[in-house]
Amino acid sequence: MRKKIVAGNWKMNMNLEEGLSFAKTINQYFDEKPSQKTEVILCTPYIHLNGVSEIVKKGKVALGAQNCASEDSGAFTGEISAGMIKSTGAQYVIIGHSERRTYYHENDALLNKKTLLAVNNGLKVIFCCGEVKEERESGKHLDVVRRQLQDGLFSLSGSDMSKIVIAYEPVWAIGTGLTATPEQAQDMHHYIRGLVKEKYGREIAEDLTILYGGSCKPSNAAEIFSKPDVDGGLIGGASLKKEDFVAIVEAI
Ligand code: 13P
Repeated sequence: MRKKIVAGNWKMNMNLEEGLSFAKTINQYFDEKPSQKTEVILCTPYIHLNGVSEIVKKGKVALGAQNCASEDSGAFTGEISAGMIKSTGAQYVIIGHSERRTYYHENDALLNKKTLLAVNNGLKVIFCCGEVKEERESGKHLDVVRRQLQDGLFSLSGSDMSKIVIAYEPVWAIGTGLTATPEQAQDMHHYIRGLVKEKYGREIAEDLTILYGGSCKPSNAAEIFSKPDVDGGLIGGASLKKEDFVAIVEAI
């Protein structure tokens, strides 16, 4: 049975004090729910990683970063390497988020480099893919996602592929209030699982967790998560409010 995951992507929100206090609240909530089987991940800004790691250490909540450098170490002012992230106690890193692709011009080749570095440094990767509005409207969305996965991800070995979570985030649904319909999400997730099956075989494809992201909220989460190939969510705005985030986790 593949793992169900709900990951909160805080993006560039909350100062250190606010973030640590919020992480405590979330951690305590899930510690008091031993029956909760869904893996909950907090993907925080870099500055929170060390502190949140201490908070979640003995609990069930996992920790991730939102990006990593494309080099291992050296003279890269302002960058944070996968090894540094790992050393904070974080287990995950998001790679290929559309905001990184769009605002920081990260292309598939660079994302492939980052993914390999992350995996080689012992991190699990939440690899994001998804099309923009024009690509969906012109019927190119499947081709776009196929290229993102082939060029960004499919150079990995089978054993490394089992450390990957894929997040399908249609760019037109991120922070816009527009959500993919449960059918649109299911169709794409099914397509993605098929691509992974073609490349890596049935077992790896069946074990792969595929998350949906894009204006996921308590009111639509249960319906989206009810689809057979949707294994959870990557949550932006709604991950910043305890009630909303918890309700989304519980919607699974
Ligand atoms: P929203 O949930 O705010 O639409 O953001 C989704 C997202 O980008 C998660 O990575």
